[in-house]
Order: sequence, then structure tokens, then C-alpha cells
Amino acid sequence: MLALPVTLGFLPMACAPERQGSGRALFETYCVSCHGPQGKGDGPAAGGLGKRPADLTGIAARNGGTFPMVRVMSAIDGYSRRNDRTSMMPELGIALQEGPLAVFDAGDGHPTPTPAKLIALAEYLRSIQRP
Ligand code: HEC
Repeated sequence: MLALPVTLGFLPMACAPERQGSGRALFETYCVSCHGPQGKGDGPAAGGLGKRPADLTGIAARNGGTFPMVRVMSAIDGYSRRNDRTSMMPELGIALQEGPLAVFDAGDGHPTPTPAKLIALAEYLRSIQRP
């Protein structure tokens, strides 16, 4: 029984080890300070923001059970927050743009070259959604 949580914890990794791995590492570099090690919005810097960082494990739950991949990617790179002066989250697009591009198909029939790091991060977030 003791091994069960460990096994579950590794399940998402089994799907795409490399990408998930790099997504997790990027998350630890750029996001944990505010969003916390589990993405629940309780990082060490969260208290000083005057606004609670989102619980990133509940994005799908808040969206009727579907993980909004494109919306999440634009929240991360700052595109969808550009005109939101209340947003406390830094625009991370530039930091994530260095490195290779990968073709991302949002399902709209227009595969778009997208920073691979941004895709890896969004896929990592998808893998930590609670049911
Ligand atoms: C300086 C603190 C801070 C850092 C660093 C930060 N965030 Fe945020 N994040 C926030 C806050 C605060 C919000 C709540 C909305 C807002 O203020 O824009 C948020 C909102 C979000 C949302 C929107 C959630 C939703 O339900 O729509 C996503 C996705 C997100 N962050 C992902 C990330 C990722 C991934 C990283 C690292 C690459 C990151 N954040 C780094 C503070 C931060």
C-alpha cells in the first residue's frame, strides 16, 4: 500500500517522459515562488502579491473538466494579460522564447510554431490537474 502514492505520482510522467520532465524543471525555475511546489498557489512569494496566485491544479475543474491548453499558454506568456493592469504575474513569454520551436496544433487546423518550453510547461500543468 505504501507504494501506491508513489506509483500514481509517476503515472503522468510515463506518457511523455522528456517533455514532462522539462516542463517540471521549467515550473520549478519560473513558477514555484508564487504558485508553490504543487502548483496550488501557495509559494513563498504568494503572500506579498496582494492577490492570490491561481491554484494551477484546478484549471480544468474550473473550466468544466477540460484543460484549456491555448488559454493557459497565453496566460503564461502574458499575451492574454497584456491589457490587464491588475495582473500580478510577470510576463514570461520572453524567458520562454529562447530555445527551439515546436509545431503546436491547437485543434483549429493551423499548426503554429510555438516555443517548445511554453508547450512543455502547459503540458506539465495539464498533467497536474486534479480530477
Ligand atoms: C510573481 C508571482 C507569479 C509567478 C512567478 C508566476 N505566476 Fe502565474 N499567476 C500569478 C497570479 C497572482 C495569478 C492570478 C491572476 C493574475 O494576477 O494574473 C496567476 C495566474 C496564472 C495562470 C492563470 C490560471 C487560470 O486559472 O486561468 C496560469 C496558467 C499561471 N499563472 C501559470 C504560471 C506559470 C506556468 C508560471 C511559471 C512559468 C507562473 N504562473 C509564474 C502569479 C505568478
